[in-house]
Amino acid sequence: MALSWKVLITAMICFLQSFVSADSGEPKIKAFHFSNDLELGMRESVQCTVKSGDPPFEFSWYKDGLTLVDMRDISVHKTDNFMSTLVISKVNSDSNGNYTCRVSNKVGFDEKSAILSVKGEWLHACVFEIVQQNLVLCLVKYRNSF
Ligand SMILES: *[C@@H]1O[C@H](CO)[C@@H](O)[C@H](O)[C@H]1NC(C)=O
Repeated sequence: MALSWKVLITAMICFLQSFVSADSGEPKIKAFHFSNDLELGMRESVQCTVKSGDPPFEFSWYKDGLTLVDMRDISVHKTDNFMSTLVISKVNSDSNGNYTCRVSNKVGFDEKSAILSVKGEWLHACVFEIVQQNLVLCLVKYRNSF
């Protein structure tokens, strides 16, 4: 009789523990940052790495809150089950923005964001716009660089 109580209690503890570990199994992502000396035409990449949580994970990337899909010069690669890499093959003024990686699994999700801001060489690009008689476009596109 005493033995069966022990078995029952052990089974209950196991059951409760499985709940606790499932709860703590939501993904946690490592923070990532873009280089702060990015110039027009450069190549840049950041990695979204899961540091804890229960696989399988689903990765999604957003730019300024919108899903990143087939944008020119931007691609996403699933490096392995715990990592997704965002590659911007040629940084341009349209690359500026707030990039978010979101990782979810059965239990929950985590999100990390980083701001990309292109520096330098704006004058070069701006002169091009002005030559094309588009001073306003230049001012709008590069307002963060002045
Ligand atoms: C970037 O986007 C994330 C997710 O939408 C948001 O929580 C965060 O506040 C944004 N960061 C900035 C600096 O706008």
